[in-house]
Amino acid sequence: MLSVEENGLVTQIEGNAPCGNLLRNYWHPLALTEELTASRAAKAVKIMGEDLVLFRDDKGEYGLIDRRCPHRGADLCFGRLEDGGIRCPFHGWLFNVDGICLEQPAEPRESNFRKKIKIQSYPCQEINGIIFTYMGLGKAPALPHFDCFVAPESHSFAFKGYLECNWLQAVEVGIDPSHASFLHRYLKDHDPEYGLQFGGMSGDSEVTMTSVLRNHVCPDIKVEENEFGMRLITTRKMNRESMHVRVTNLVFPNLIVIPMTNDMCISQWHVPIDDKYSWWYAIFTAFDDEIDKEAMRN
Ligand code: FES
Ligand SMILES: [Fe+2]
Repeated sequence: MLSVEENGLVTQIEGNAPCGNLLRNYWHPLALTEELTASRAAKAVKIMGEDLVLFRDDKGEYGLIDRRCPHRGADLCFGRLEDGGIRCPFHGWLFNVDGICLEQPAEPRESNFRKKIKIQSYPCQEINGIIFTYMGLGKAPALPHFDCFVAPESHSFAFKGYLECNWLQAVEVGIDPSHASFLHRYLKDHDPEYGLQFGGMSGDSEVTMTSVLRNHVCPDIKVEENEFGMRLITTRKMNRESMHVRVTNLVFPNLIVIPMTNDMCISQWHVPIDDKYSWWYAIFTAFDDEIDKEAMRN
């Protein structure tokens, strides 16, 4: 069992915490693309304990900058999206996606003061329904060529959920194969009243996933460490001839990739909001037919 100090070391991310500094070396999901499609594309976000504003400028570029204006602390998420940036609603200082102050309208014309102002900014990249950010030092690395990033948009469906636990608690649940036999099981194979999750067939068998989970509550779990993190191989012996195998890939530090059916996998990240709370982001990736996003949403 972890001591309180050890637990803090691997879960706490705010300020200059070592775990936060480690996580910042990776791209993380920040928002769903659809969260910014309103007529005014600016939104307050919190990630790694930092209060920031995410916006899309008039050229369509994403910016992630400090939420508080450095002048008098006004909230930039109420800013105006115009003139190549976001303009503070209080005195009109204008910031671009790099956090550079482009204008200070009330300063004398000859003033150079704006050149001394630079607020925190982080690069963003939008892909398959999610806007990602890199909060580490130096130049951002390229996003890896994972299936969820290289699949066409038509074969991807992104989703998010708010979790009242820290990022590592969520990762632990994400890789835990045995809870599925209780949390994700239904007493009937087809149960529209309670939901249809796991109602599909297991592989090419005639058995629904929910019945596999319902009837095999004590799976065998093997853990392999490998170059990307670790892989759990969970088996449920269904009968003499067949065995259900679930593969869970944990891509260090917080991405979990699980093949769900023969032609779909889920990639899910658990991203710290602060030391206590986290967002769950997921991209479902289809390898065969396009995804019916409306059906997925419902
Ligand atoms: S508070 Fe933002 S410009 Fe004054
Ligand atoms: Fe689950």
